[in-house]
Amino acid sequence: KDDLFKNVISHAKEYGFVFQSSEIYDGLSAVYDYGQLGAELKNNIKTYWWKSMVQMNENIVGIDSAIFMHPKIWKASGHVDGFNDPMIDNKDSKKRYRADQLLEERIAKYEKDGKTDKAAALEEQMNEALKSENLPQLKVLIEEHEIACPVSGTRNWTDVRQFNLMFSTQMGAMAEGSDEVYLRPETAQGIFVNFLNVQKSGRMKIPFGIAQIGKAFRNEVIARQFIMRMREFEQMEMQFFVRPGTEMEWYNYWKQARLKWHTALGTDPAKYRYHDHTKLAHYANAAVDIEFEFPFGFKEVEGIHSRTDFDLSQHQNFSGKKMQYFDPELNEEGKPYGNYVPYVIETSIGLDRMFLLTILNAYEEQDLSEGDKKDSRSVLRLHPALAPVKAAIMPLTKKDGLPEKAREIMNKLKLDFNLQYDEKDSIGKRYRRQDAIGTPFCITVDYDSLQDNTVTIRHRDSMQQERVAVDQLEKIIGDLVSW
Ligand code: GAP
Repeated sequence: KDDLFKNVISHAKEYGFVFQSSEIYDGLSAVYDYGQLGAELKNNIKTYWWKSMVQMNENIVGIDSAIFMHPKIWKASGHVDGFNDPMIDNKDSKKRYRADQLLEERIAKYEKDGKTDKAAALEEQMNEALKSENLPQLKVLIEEHEIACPVSGTRNWTDVRQFNLMFSTQMGAMAEGSDEVYLRPETAQGIFVNFLNVQKSGRMKIPFGIAQIGKAFRNEVIARQFIMRMREFEQMEMQFFVRPGTEMEWYNYWKQARLKWHTALGTDPAKYRYHDHTKLAHYANAAVDIEFEFPFGFKEVEGIHSRTDFDLSQHQNFSGKKMQYFDPELNEEGKPYGNYVPYVIETSIGLDRMFLLTILNAYEEQDLSEGDKKDSRSVLRLHPALAPVKAAIMPLTKKDGLPEKAREIMNKLKLDFNLQYDEKDSIGKRYRRQDAIGTPFCITVDYDSLQDNTVTIRHRDSMQQERVAVDQLEKIIGDLVSW
């Protein structure tokens, strides 16, 4: 499994999916760039999400709010005071660690060694200390369990301190009147503060949702596992506004609907599971993670949270503006309280994690040896709708009018599909290159094509070939790459 992960990381680099940011300067930790194929795959994942949320639901609309927002928003949301990790530094190595992470690793070690009682006791003490924000107690636990710095090997620790995960910068000139602003750590708040703008201008009736895709930034201290935990990442979030009292019904609805979205891509459902939260954030009355089985274990990809009226009420208090909805249906029923602050169900998925999951799940090293003839291929078995390149157009040779014919077909199809033209090397090598980037179809133009206007389509997964008329291509590809 470790090998799979390593192979996928190097495959992603070799074929232009993901590069380390600022690589020629030795990289920037936990920041990544998407290459020419990565950008396509990422866009296709976004489109799949956007279509299934916004296009398929008449009561969900999408927005695109700014990354910079009024600093008070992060006071209201609780991020200024509460979006912290408890950190501890080793005085010898000068390395900084998350205190809870150190303890969790120790708990895992106890479990591995069969010391389950010890593991359970430490876990309980740690959770208690985290919940009551008892930082000295976290240090006591680290000392009692003799946890040493993985780098220096010493137990020369500083005190545990809270470390805010938000990045801040200065807006305007540095002189008087300049203000500290934050890079948003989640896209959700851009939706909450626009709740009434959208509701009124879109004449939205509850229940309705607002969706958004965008960058978020967190100064993660433990940054590992490739694009799992980044400092700059992208979220696809949807806030669904409902009548108070109906939130559990909608929470369950979205819990089911979101898992269905994941498995609709053909992923083995056994690779997914729910993880219901028992410890809830201060704003939530129910929360569940959708976890995927990565090579390093089941990890969160998406969260569904019942956020009550916490965010809208906070913004109402901090801004002094009413964040209420007038419910005409409640009013018609003759109930006196047609005005209320809606409750919210949130679905929040990390685009980069979805990207990682997608390539991990698609990647396969296939042994194609027959008898003594050794052969193999790397293939990305991506859902055709997600594949960065939908088809490759290949003239069998570089002469006799075949390239011209291939170009003619390409020009007709490229309005609708992202294509690659490839005339270099043998057909076999070209097929392998397309397999490696997940292209579902290769279209070969040969001498017969000039006579009868037919081509060969070769399918990535089955490697089967079929002869089809050029006029049929648009429909054949269109049908197979559609959602
Ligand atoms: N608005 C709710 C919210 O932000 P979250 O659980 O903190 O909730 C939601 O984040 C999703 O964002 C996670 O499930 C994960 O997929 C993704 N995510 C969070 N932090 C991330 C990071 N540092 N790098 C990549 N993805 C991240």
